[in-house]
Amino acid sequence: MEKTALRGEDAADRLAVVDEVASKYAGTKGALIPILQNVQSRIGYLPTEVMERIGEKAGVPAAQVFGVASFYSQFRLEPVGRYVVKVCHGTACHVQGAGAITEAVCSELGVEDGETTADGKFTVESVACIGCCSLAPVIMIEENSFGRLTPDEARRIVREYGD
Ligand code: FES
Repeated sequence: MEKTALRGEDAADRLAVVDEVASKYAGTKGALIPILQNVQSRIGYLPTEVMERIGEKAGVPAAQVFGVASFYSQFRLEPVGRYVVKVCHGTACHVQGAGAITEAVCSELGVEDGETTADGKFTVESVACIGCCSLAPVIMIEENSFGRLTPDEARRIVREYGD
């Protein structure tokens, strides 16, 4: 997620993003998932009013939009933190102790996997292979990856990140 591309500070802004994205898919059949993906990449998640607007624009009942967004795990219905800490749980990272890395990051931040800190700064997320297996175990925050981690190093990285 590129923080500079994120919009959606307020509801009007979020709806403007939907209108802009939907206009690119006007007249395209089966565009619901790409629209959801595109909107989420712009505003970080899919709040209710955004899904309703997507339904209007795509000519799909709102219930169907909610159904699709809740079925696929790639879609978020809740806001994410300023920084998403992606902890790789692909095979190489799993073998190299990804479980202990998630545990360390979560305990440092005081959240469970998948949750966001109360101050909205971090969301922790387990992900599939992020493509740098030789550095396992790996975490990624924004575009930065950190490899060959120990649990203590992972704690330090999140403690210091964004300071
Ligand atoms: S398995 Fe973690 S980077 Fe590939």
